Amino acid sequence: RIAGPSGLVIFGVTGDLSRKKLMPAVYDLANRGLLPPGFSLVGFARRDWADQDFAQVVHDAVREHARTPFREEVWQQLAEGMRFIPGDFDDDTAFKQLKSAVDELDASRGTSGNYAFYLSVPPKFFPKVVQQLKKHGLADAPEGSWRRAVIEKPFGHDLASARELNRIVHGVFEPDQVFRIDHYLGKETVQNILALRFANQMYEPIWNRSFVDHVQITMAEDIGIGGRAGYYDGIGAARDVIQNHLLQLMALTAMEEPIAFDAGSLVTEKMKVLKSVKLPEDLGAHTVRGQYAAAWQGGEKVHGYLQEEGIDPASTTDTYAAIKLEVDNRRWAGVPFYLRTGKRLGRRVTEIAVVFQRAPHSPFDTTATEELGQNAIVIRVQPDEGMTVRFGSKVPGTSMEIRDVSMDFAYGESFTESSPEAYERLILDVLLGDANLFPRTEEVEESWRILDPIEEYWATHGKPAQYASGSWGPGEADEMLARDGRSWRRP
Ligand code: BG6
Repeated sequence: RIAGPSGLVIFGVTGDLSRKKLMPAVYDLANRGLLPPGFSLVGFARRDWADQDFAQVVHDAVREHARTPFREEVWQQLAEGMRFIPGDFDDDTAFKQLKSAVDELDASRGTSGNYAFYLSVPPKFFPKVVQQLKKHGLADAPEGSWRRAVIEKPFGHDLASARELNRIVHGVFEPDQVFRIDHYLGKETVQNILALRFANQMYEPIWNRSFVDHVQITMAEDIGIGGRAGYYDGIGAARDVIQNHLLQLMALTAMEEPIAFDAGSLVTEKMKVLKSVKLPEDLGAHTVRGQYAAAWQGGEKVHGYLQEEGIDPASTTDTYAAIKLEVDNRRWAGVPFYLRTGKRLGRRVTEIAVVFQRAPHSPFDTTATEELGQNAIVIRVQPDEGMTVRFGSKVPGTSMEIRDVSMDFAYGESFTESSPEAYERLILDVLLGDANLFPRTEEVEESWRILDPIEEYWATHGKPAQYASGSWGPGEADEMLARDGRSWRRP
């Protein structure tokens, strides 16, 4: 899978995402031989840079963040195809220059009119940028070539705003020209959920309400909001990652087998899950939100959320969110899916734990199984990529005592191949026109349909609970599970 003749235009090229993820990903793809020799990269931003200044910025970003070793010849080849367009999004002259740059690159580098426009900009700029692309003839592909738009989240902050954004974007680009990034789908371990479930025979027969007690999906981060106050405040943890990453993980975990591994079949099955999601009636009892408070974390005294620079000291934005959902269909009826995420938690870990019911009967006396937990299959998304199966085993000795043990699969031990960074995979797929790993409009909207009532409830019911930085979130979240007779895993 090598991309054909093409180029990438990045709007918002001075942003963090661009420097830390997009530029290094482009270089890594080139270094792995997955880009065409004439691949071209155009940056667009409000900076007084010449092409060489832009190339220098990319160079520094690559040196700092690329996964693969720096090779001068790869860099030179790539750098020759770099152009920079200085300007505002409403500056017609700049868009004319962009058009000329694209034409010039078609001629000098053979990009063949194939361009992806990456909108790494806040959503308030989406309308302007797509309209300008339209106005200047950049959105319409010349005969035999393609034009694609890549959009970064947030796709709105609720259903109404997401619909409005979609309306604007689809006013210019056809649905199959639009690629929405959910970088979790670019992760190897996330793609492996489907391999695990549908390339094997042993999991699927027990992957349902007859055997599964509940599912826990955790995305914990140890970092705070860093320099992202402007983006994060008023958005919060649930909108930031549950609406997209966690609901996608849930959809992949719960969906039926797609009839084929293609974008249309995948979206059909994911949509069936999202549409079956039922919220608990008592949102007060089955959702929890929190805010990190100042504490010592890993030997460092860290600020609480309300003391972070740029945050309103009266902010009620959630930095932790836990919710209980049900998937109301034949496979999952009655099986709760608990989703939680938070900043400044004990450690960085994302995992999906499918927790099984207890054995219906035991021939051993109760003291034998006192310490036995429930069987579980844990998909370790990151950082320790792999899978754990937890089950009971006899403790060696003269009496019958059964305790939990685990069987592990670790990527690092089973494969010599290294995992590409999520953005590498996704950028390559955009250039190839492969939409399997990109959520569609309807998934984004359906996910807001799930989250909106929770956000509305929170907006009118009190404030987030405080939790100490470095802890596992507010005590209320433990109570939420305890009421159901369950407890959170401590990954
Ligand atoms: C992003 C969120 O989508 O995902 C961030 O906006 C979060 O708040 C990030 O930190 C986490 O990504 P990863 O790949 O490090 O788990």
